[in-house]
Amino acid sequence: EIGELAKSMGYNAYLVGGIIRDIILGWENLDIDIVIEGDGIVFAKEFAKIKQAKVATHERFKTATLVMKDGMRIDIATAREEYYDLPGALPVVEKSSIKLDLYRRDFTINALAMKLHDEFGDLLDFFGGLNDIKNKKIRVLHMLSFVDDPTRMYRAVRFAARLGFDIGQQTDRLIKVAVELGIVNKVEKIRIFNEIVHILNNDNVKSSFEMLKSYRLIRTLDNKLIIDDRILSYIDEAEEIVKSCSIFCKNKKIKRERVFLILLEYLFGKSTSFSKAVGADDQTYEFVKNTSKKIPIANGILSKKNVNDLEIYEALSKIPLEGILALYPLTKEKERLIRYLEDLMHREPIIKGKDLIKLGFKPSKIFGQMINDIFKQQLLGKIKDKIEAIKYIEEN
Ligand code: CTP
Repeated sequence: EIGELAKSMGYNAYLVGGIIRDIILGWENLDIDIVIEGDGIVFAKEFAKIKQAKVATHERFKTATLVMKDGMRIDIATAREEYYDLPGALPVVEKSSIKLDLYRRDFTINALAMKLHDEFGDLLDFFGGLNDIKNKKIRVLHMLSFVDDPTRMYRAVRFAARLGFDIGQQTDRLIKVAVELGIVNKVEKIRIFNEIVHILNNDNVKSSFEMLKSYRLIRTLDNKLIIDDRILSYIDEAEEIVKSCSIFCKNKKIKRERVFLILLEYLFGKSTSFSKAVGADDQTYEFVKNTSKKIPIANGILSKKNVNDLEIYEALSKIPLEGILALYPLTKEKERLIRYLEDLMHREPIIKGKDLIKLGFKPSKIFGQMINDIFKQQLLGKIKDKIEAIKYIEEN
């Protein structure tokens, strides 16, 4: 339908970006990016009207975002126009601007487009992206790609780790030169941080960090951030526990990247702040710093001889779950920690306020304390069910 409308308006429409790559690889991707040769905003408004979709436009960038009735999002952009300055050359604007649009992108594998307006499904592959997908190569489109946007170096690592691709020879060399020249420090830190968050949210964090290390992409942000084998093996263990967390943690949600950030904050703590150095926003930085500070105390309790479940619960329940997971690689008492994650963390008071009312107590301020008291006995294993709880209340 996008193609038909575009055609009727005299425009060309293309599906572009990561989704094409993922369709070819057979991976799921729900990001729909459309490029229009013509006026993307006019097109978006028209399409929204027909489909009764919501539309937000950004005049400055000539882009629009549609939210369809079923909630699906479609991003629409306007292809950059192409001008020929050469004397005598005709400015062939409409037809070739998709090529320029694609040329400005990061890697060949992301610079494929699919025609929607005509010969639906025809693939435009100007830069050998298809071949690179086949040969599992991450390649930039031109020499200045990393100068145009240094965050692409981190993206190269991300795609290499996520897709299991290699970084092409020339691209590899360009990253090394760019790091040598220190161009990373020309970008807003938060943009680098966003890419690092992406890396931490992908699988294969350890191999990503091996790559980041070999390109010195972390050290270039702060000379004190030396990733060594010890750090890599901690990262590996953190990744292991994060994966298991999808089972252990049941309905408890985590922000996955924060586990690694807390761990690294702790590991580099004496010399520098990892999260600050890699450009974390203030909110993330505060959270990560405060949580990492709690790690030694929690580890102390966990490592105490003859520690009981109540003590473990009281120490660990004060710490956000991301912090507990970050503690896993660091502690010798892994079994105790897993016991907390699998069992203790999910415990709830047997007796609730309404049970106390049923027992004839008048609602009062001491309810909270009574419930808590019983909960403690539960954690100590002294109360196992409601009957024992009621007996306990009667006796105390
Ligand atoms: N892009 C770019 N340079 C960047 C960021 C993005 O050239 N620094 C281009 C890429 O061609 C990419 C597209 O913009 O395909 C969309 O960006 P993004 O959504 O970040 O990437 P995807 O490839 O869609 O990756 P993902 O599947 O992780 O969303």
